[in-house]
Formats: sequence, C-alpha cells, structure tokens
Amino acid sequence: MLRNKLPGKGTTIFSVMSKMAQDQGAINLSQGFPDFDGPEALRERVTYHMSNGHNQYAPLTGVPELREQIALKVLDLYGCNIDPDTEVAVTPGATEAIFCAITTVVHPGDEVLVFDPAYDTYEPNVTLNGGVTRHIALRYPDFSIDWQQVRDSITERTRLIILNTPQNPTGTLWGEEDIRQLREIIAERDIYLLSDEVYEHIYFDGKQHLSLLRYPDLAAKTFVISSFGKTYHTTGWRIGYAIAPRPLMDEFLRIQQFINFSTNAPMQYAIADFLRDCPQHHYELGSFYQAKRDLFCQLMAKSRFKLIPSSGTYFQLADYSAISDEPDTEFAARLTREHKVAAIPVSVFYKQAPDQRIVRFCFAKHDDTLREATGRLVGL
Ligand SMILES: Cc1ncc(COP(=O)(O)O)c(C=O)c1O
Repeated sequence: MLRNKLPGKGTTIFSVMSKMAQDQGAINLSQGFPDFDGPEALRERVTYHMSNGHNQYAPLTGVPELREQIALKVLDLYGCNIDPDTEVAVTPGATEAIFCAITTVVHPGDEVLVFDPAYDTYEPNVTLNGGVTRHIALRYPDFSIDWQQVRDSITERTRLIILNTPQNPTGTLWGEEDIRQLREIIAERDIYLLSDEVYEHIYFDGKQHLSLLRYPDLAAKTFVISSFGKTYHTTGWRIGYAIAPRPLMDEFLRIQQFINFSTNAPMQYAIADFLRDCPQHHYELGSFYQAKRDLFCQLMAKSRFKLIPSSGTYFQLADYSAISDEPDTEFAARLTREHKVAAIPVSVFYKQAPDQRIVRFCFAKHDDTLREATGRLVGL
C-alpha cells in the first residue's frame, strides 16, 4: 500500500480556485498572478538569448551575470554585501528555494515556527523533512505578531522561524519593533531564519521593506528568498533565488543539485540584462501596484465588503460578514459560481482558522478587469 507522506493535504487552494474560475467562466482574482505580461524589453532579451546560444544547462548556482546583478541589487537596496559566487543561488521559482532552505536545516523532530495565515508551502515542506510546525496566529484585525506567544512557543527543538514580509495574504509589513523582538529571541540560540521576501518591491504609502539583509547579525542566520516571477509579472517563468551566508548556502546547494540541478538558462541571461539596464522597474513597482490597490479599494468602497488595509503585496483582504455568515470556503465557491468572481478563502492559510469571514482578492490585474470584477461585487 502506498503511504501518504502529506496526510490531510489535498490539492492546493490556488489550483482549486483557478480551475473553478475557469470552469465557471469567472474573473480570477484568486491565484496570485497578473493578467498582463512582463516588460517588453525583458521579453525581447529572452528571445535574443534563445537565438544566441544560451540554451544549455546553466551552472547549479545560476549564471554568473545574474548572480552579479542580484548582488548589486541587494547592495543598492539593503546595503548588504554578498559574494555572488558563494552566497546566492538561482532556483526554479521561490517555491523550490523555500523547499531547499527548509530541507537544509530541518531534521526529524525539529520544530519550525510559522505565522498564520501563512503561505501554503511552508508546512508541507517541514512535514516532508520530518519536522513539526508550530503555528502562531497573527492578531486580528491588524495581523500584528504576539511576541510573547512567540517566546512561549520556542523550545529546545526549535530550529527555524519562517517569516514573510510583505506578507501574503494579509499585506502587512514587518516593522523595526518586530526586528528587535526577533533579534532578542534568537540571540544565542541555534535557530535559523527563512525570510520569504518574494514581494520585496511591492509596498505602499511611503513605508519601507525591512529585508533581513539590512541586519548583518540576522542575515548571518537567514535564507532570504525572492521571486522574479513577482517582480517582472512572469510567474510562469519560474525563476527565484535564495541568499544565505556561505555555510548555509553550501548545504543548500548540496540539496538543490539533486532536485533540479539548474534553472532555465535564457531567462536568467535576460533577467540579468534587464536588472542592469532597467532598475527603475523594481524601483517603481510599489507605486505601480499602489495605484491598482487604490483603484480596487475605491471601486469596492460602495460594496458591503469591509476592506482590511493592505500595505504591501498585490493582495487585498475583505471581510464579508455584512453579506453572509457562510464559512469562507463556501462563500468563495458561491462567489465564483453565482457572481463569477473567484477569491481565496483565508481560512486555508491557517492551521486552526479563527472565526473570521475573510476572502483574499488579487489586484494584479488590468484596470478593466478590476472594474468588471468589482462591478459584480458591489451589488452583493
Ligand atoms: C509568500 C509567497 N512565497 C513564495 C511564493 C512562490 O513564488 P514563486 O512563484 O517564485 O515560486 C509565493 C507565490 O505566490 C508567495 O506568495
């Protein structure tokens, strides 16, 4: 008999809702991807490199040109000096970087802290490595961290803390006080950090993104993970990266070489060119998405959804308790079937979902898509 390694885990909610949206002919504001293409200049560089001999295996760590550009970017943005030859690895999406980072540090019986609502790959990745997740629910309605609860959850077996800023699905950002608390908690403890920063360029209202790369003492224990899919509107290209100090990266690469060995070559060359030639794309990404958030919120203002402020990512949470008291999975399914707009029920991001009525909308869409979708939602 085949024994299930992930008991209780079915198909991810993103696949479920995207399929439902397609079957029902609904506008898909569920899964997190844009309905527009990445920059033309970037796509042209892919064609160029495909036509100029860059079609064979890339090195395990990624093409040197791209690693160099990543190093320059984190120096520019976070004042962090990394060695592009030994402290960065390009991966097939952030998803694989997360898996490799977790696999690098988690051994059977180890405990890993995650903040719920949490992105859905963390827990299964820990489980596959024989670890156990401890879940800390962010406080409603501002989704702040209860640091006392974090302290109380640390044990001798705690090996890793996974954080995500800007955070999917809540749109919250870590602040200096969170950094201070984290620093105190891990000081003199054998605990590593995984900082999922795939939305590092998408934050709003003049706020700041506090990458852990800004803090040398924390960066010394951290895998920082990012995704070019999110930055360049190219989630289908599957290119991300991890940054970690050498001893961590050496172990990471020992694992990564046996999973995918290397990442799509022509796109790496193209992204390297684009990072070098068009840094304004990532400088301006926050204001690009802030305009979309503002449009979405303004259009939804007439609805009975209560919007929970989003400071980053391309997601907007909405409380629908004035419309229905159905559980969120049922509400999201009915919204898709009857009103032809798909959203993600937020309870799926929790180990133990609180009694909330919240769905997540993705606003990485053409303005016309947002107008059409919100037109269907305001009547509810
Ligand atoms: C928080 C978070 N981490 C990681 C990922 C995965 O990124 P990628 O598409 O590069 O694998 C996503 C994608 O939605 C995400 O939201």
